Amino acid sequence: MSLPLIFFVNGRKVVEENAEPETSLLEYLRKNLGLKGVKLACGEGGCGACTVMVSRYDHENKKIFHYTVNACLAPVCAMHGLAVTTVEGIGSIKTGLHPVQERISKSFGSQCGYCTPGIVMSMYTLIRNTGQPTTEQIETALEGNLCRCTGYRPILEGFKCFTKKSCGLGENCCMNRKQSDEEQELPSSSAMNASIPPDSTQDPIFPSELQQS
Ligand code: FES
Ligand code: FES
Repeated sequence: MSLPLIFFVNGRKVVEENAEPETSLLEYLRKNLGLKGVKLACGEGGCGACTVMVSRYDHENKKIFHYTVNACLAPVCAMHGLAVTTVEGIGSIKTGLHPVQERISKSFGSQCGYCTPGIVMSMYTLIRNTGQPTTEQIETALEGNLCRCTGYRPILEGFKCFTKKSCGLGENCCMNRKQSDEEQELPSSSAMNASIPPDSTQDPIFPSELQQS
């Protein structure tokens, strides 16, 4: 008797008794779990539209590792014992956008939006791993994500606030503002002024079940 496939998606435990070895993670997320934020574009690992974050607990080093995965290439069976986070898991208009989602929107870094979930997940994974990345780290993290309509400059501009360097807005930078400032009227000259600071409590908690050996 074969064992069920067990993994977590956006903090929810998934137990699949009849996992098909040829089913990709992308297919499973979209068809079985209804997570349509994971996009199918090239289907061969070339565009990054299907990027999700996969997290693994290293029992030896007692550390959680986060990395990006092209869901169109990864077999769902390879997710056994891992935690998958999709763009739906980090924020939404209903539950509140994650700062990464908010910044790509405020910087006009999305047009048709097809590449956006993948770009958001690449950036989100980088932040989970580094806290405050450098501009070079951001550029490297986005190397596997193609965008056909926006162009990369507005996307990179939007993510500048996450770096150690100033974004150029001085004390108006969202990183220098307190949460209570959200309620205040903000100057319309800079859409980025309305950005919310990163809040680690918005990050999905790694499932404790996967930390037990
Ligand atoms: Fe293009 Fe997966 S759909 S890399
Ligand atoms: Fe259309 Fe990037 S916004 S592909």
